Amino acid sequence: MSDKPIHRLYRHFQELPVSMRVLFTGTLLAIGMGYLFALIYVYTSDAGRDGNPALTVKDIVISYSGSAEGTQLEAALAGPMSAMLPESDRETILHWIGNGAPKEEYEAEIQAVVDQNCLDCHDGSNPHLSNLDGFDNIKQVVKQDTGTDLHTLVRVSHIHLFGVTFIFFIVGFIFSHAWLRPVWLKSLVMFTPFVCIAADVSSWYFTKLYAGFAWVVLIAGGLMGLSFAIMWIISMYQMWFYRVPDNVRNRTFQ
Ligand code: HEC
Repeated sequence: MSDKPIHRLYRHFQELPVSMRVLFTGTLLAIGMGYLFALIYVYTSDAGRDGNPALTVKDIVISYSGSAEGTQLEAALAGPMSAMLPESDRETILHWIGNGAPKEEYEAEIQAVVDQNCLDCHDGSNPHLSNLDGFDNIKQVVKQDTGTDLHTLVRVSHIHLFGVTFIFFIVGFIFSHAWLRPVWLKSLVMFTPFVCIAADVSSWYFTKLYAGFAWVVLIAGGLMGLSFAIMWIISMYQMWFYRVPDNVRNRTFQ
């Protein structure tokens, strides 16, 4: 199975003192639980943004770069509110939103339309309907959804990079005691998460520029989870249940 000599510093789990194995086991249990909660968090915060309950690439695009569906007012005018005003006035409002909803244009053209057609219901007296009286109120429904802002992304990036490095240093260090050949495969499993976290975090920013990068976010996250699962399962198994191959078991130490 392996012709190459085993490195003199290599120790299999079962050659380690029980106390170390107990420490490793406890650590893996707690980190595994943490990973599950992280997955739940990702699902509950991002999945379903596009209407589909699963976590999709579109959810990620919406979460990082915002929705291309437009503003709340556009959605209302295309849907339930479309019958509330004449077609030409509707066009005027949509045009105004397209221009970035400037205040001068609001005062010149929009205010009169809204006052006449909408304020019967949207004058602020009904707490369940948005108040459309005045520029400051209407501004709330014409806000573009631009996704997570840069400052938040930078904050989350550094927390993520530090946190993930800790997790995968600890899990990778424990896994380094497993017996897995060829060595390149073992190294690949250990190194992949670090490539993934770099690709993942940078793609959050690139997704703002080009939606295709949401795929990188999804794939990197998936590969990271896969490496984690492989290292976790092999470590736990080899720590307590595995029979170490004879060539490893019977090697002589210089
Ligand atoms: C007859 C009452 C009525 C009039 C007039 C009316 N709306 Fe509404 N509007 C509603 C109700 C009720 C809802 C919530 C129900 C829904 O979403 O289908 C709503 C929802 C909305 C929403 C979604 C946000 C929210 O408040 O829930 C927007 C935006 C909106 N209306 C804009 C307008 C605009 C612009 C006009 C004028 C062109 C207008 N509405 C005229 C009753 C009205």
